[in-house]
Amino acid sequence: MTVNSQTIQSMSVLEAMRGRKSVRRFRPDPVPREMVRTILDAAARAPSGTNTQPWNVYVVEGAAKARVSNAVIQASEAGETNPSYAYAPEKWFEPYLSRRRKIGYDLYALLGITKDDWPRRKEQHNRNFEFFGAPVGLFFTMDRRLNHGSWIDMGIFIGYVMLAARGLGLETCPQAAWQRHSDAVHDALDIPQEQILFCGMSLGHPDWDAPENALQTDRETVDKFTIFLTD
Ligand SMILES: Cc1cc2nc3c(=O)[nH]c(=O)nc-3n(C[C@H](O)[C@H](O)[C@H](O)COP(=O)(O)O)c2cc1C
Repeated sequence: MTVNSQTIQSMSVLEAMRGRKSVRRFRPDPVPREMVRTILDAAARAPSGTNTQPWNVYVVEGAAKARVSNAVIQASEAGETNPSYAYAPEKWFEPYLSRRRKIGYDLYALLGITKDDWPRRKEQHNRNFEFFGAPVGLFFTMDRRLNHGSWIDMGIFIGYVMLAARGLGLETCPQAAWQRHSDAVHDALDIPQEQILFCGMSLGHPDWDAPENALQTDRETVDKFTIFLTD
């Protein structure tokens, strides 16, 4: 694969999948525009029902990135929330509740944040809105008139973006946190209201020395979530 006149040896698909993790601290090193284009070009090969390709992507860097960060931090400070959609059920229940709690506690433990240290928890949450220090932010949107089927397509596309990024030696963090402040994101980036904001994503070079990037999340085994039927 050629990016910026450099030939990059891309990793195997399984390696890209198995090694992917959400990175929550990035180095400030820039990501060339050409790399972002290569990632999006590869991700655009994602399948979608009847090839509808419902995805739109807003890539933010520099002043645009600062603008959306500031707008959302301000909205968050003011307690203004206007989610694009309900990500969570009204009340979490098992086994999802425990899984959710575990990743929160594990992340805070790595950062030395105690359970009831609300100011530091909030500070860490707000790191979402700084793209965790990444030089590039992405926002994924779709025409609101499309229906649930297209949400499947969006999820696959977003997954492809994360894997393609790994293929180029970059890492990501998908972030639904942004959609809770959708008005601020729409306003800051002039995203038409006809588009629904799915999530944001941080993209860049990981800082592997950062404690938060040591987080290794669990997964259930295949036999826990799969039923093989033969007759
Ligand atoms: C749709 C989606 C939204 C997410 N939103 C956030 C977010 O707002 N902030 C964050 O730090 N992580 C976010 N994550 C990352 C998840 O916490 C993470 O994928 C999960 O804990 C599994 O860990 P791993 O990605 O390291 O394997 C999100 C992941 C997905 C798929």
